[in-house]
Amino acid sequence: MIRIGLLGYGTVGQAFAELVARQTRVQTLIEVALVRNPERPRKGPQIRLTGNPEDVIDCPDIDVIVDVMGGSEPARQWLVRAIEQNKSVISANKEVMADYASELGQLAARHNVYLAWEAAVGGGIPLLEPLKSHFSGAPVSRFIGILNGTTNYVLSRLETGESYSEALSDAQRAGYAEADPANDLNGSDVARKLELVFGALFGTPKNFSITPRRGIDEDLSRIVKRVEPWGWRVKVLAVADQLGGTQIWPTLVRADHRLAQVTGVMNVAGVEIYGQWFWMEGPGAGGPATALSLLADFYRGYETGFHRLRLSPLSEKLVHPISMPWMGFALDPDRSLSSFNVPDGAIMHQDYWMTPPLDQISAANWLAENPGLLAYPVLLDA
Ligand SMILES: NC(=O)c1ccc[n+]([C@@H]2O[C@H](COP(=O)([O-])OP(=O)(O)OC[C@H]3O[C@@H](n4cnc5c(N)ncnc54)[C@H](OP(=O)(O)O)[C@@H]3O)[C@@H](O)[C@H]2O)c1
Repeated sequence: MIRIGLLGYGTVGQAFAELVARQTRVQTLIEVALVRNPERPRKGPQIRLTGNPEDVIDCPDIDVIVDVMGGSEPARQWLVRAIEQNKSVISANKEVMADYASELGQLAARHNVYLAWEAAVGGGIPLLEPLKSHFSGAPVSRFIGILNGTTNYVLSRLETGESYSEALSDAQRAGYAEADPANDLNGSDVARKLELVFGALFGTPKNFSITPRRGIDEDLSRIVKRVEPWGWRVKVLAVADQLGGTQIWPTLVRADHRLAQVTGVMNVAGVEIYGQWFWMEGPGAGGPATALSLLADFYRGYETGFHRLRLSPLSEKLVHPISMPWMGFALDPDRSLSSFNVPDGAIMHQDYWMTPPLDQISAANWLAENPGLLAYPVLLDA
């Protein structure tokens, strides 16, 4: 019998408890769950709730801690204390894992316990584990992902003519966006996920404060409508390459590209190997979907006797900018394109310029030199 202690019993915690109750592969018992308010009734399976973290992290009967609580602190200190007592940890918490995966991984290795966080990126999509295991020997040259359901949901609604504020309120009503959606909208949530993807792919940590990053915290409805007749859609893409380049930016994607077809809260991620793309796609959020990833980690841990499988080596990655073609067009649709300066090699289409690949700094310089110009990176070669 494996005994589990939960840190948190909200959307994901309750969905996980339901899934555990239905599975028969491993004899499992959820001993107790830590919550802020143990008196509040819950819809999920009726398990013991506590408001005292020690009842979970210090309980000698518990073998595995499942972190479905959120936030960096106090989650980090509680996980450290649990690992020091030789408990394995499975986490859906991207904040604590993006900031402390290396520290916690080393501690877990020293204590010979299992630590996994598949559920922290892409909800129910098997993503980190395939990157770490299935593709681990492959020469992955690039990664592209749509990793934030709220942002993708809002962009999809802008395409159908809804206003930005309506789309955002709908996302909140449907439970996709947090009460404070700032981290979803400004790209921080994607940055954390890209950091975890980067570690899974290349085995190295990266400081994401330096990733060029923009989300949709400003209303892009005008841009979405403007590029639509030209055959483009706007998607916030997280991009990484094997040289250490990373970028999170609203990017123009051909309307018939598979990335443009991923709408609402669905997530997608792809890796390029030998010039071919391997795509993984599915629900990027939601309790039941995310619980699947937690259970998958639990089974993987069980198969190894809850011993740590591997520890990513620590080394610094070269930092270099991602280069992509940029589409430039006039903010004022009546303004003549010929009034703008363009980078060498740019090609003028009827309503926009398409540049050769530019990095963020060159693109920013181009924008600065040309008031009235808008420019976005374009995905042409995936
Ligand atoms: N929801 C998703 O679709 C999704 C998808 C992937 C990953 N995740 C990640 O999964 C984790 C949980 O998400 P969720 O949507 O289930 O959140 P949630 O519904 O807000 O649940 C959080 C739970 O943690 C408890 N909690 C939070 N802070 C606490 C503290 N300081 N002390 C004691 N208990 C505390 C809360 O207690 P009370 O119930 O008493 O408030 C609640 O039970 C997060 O890290 C999130 O990023 C979520």
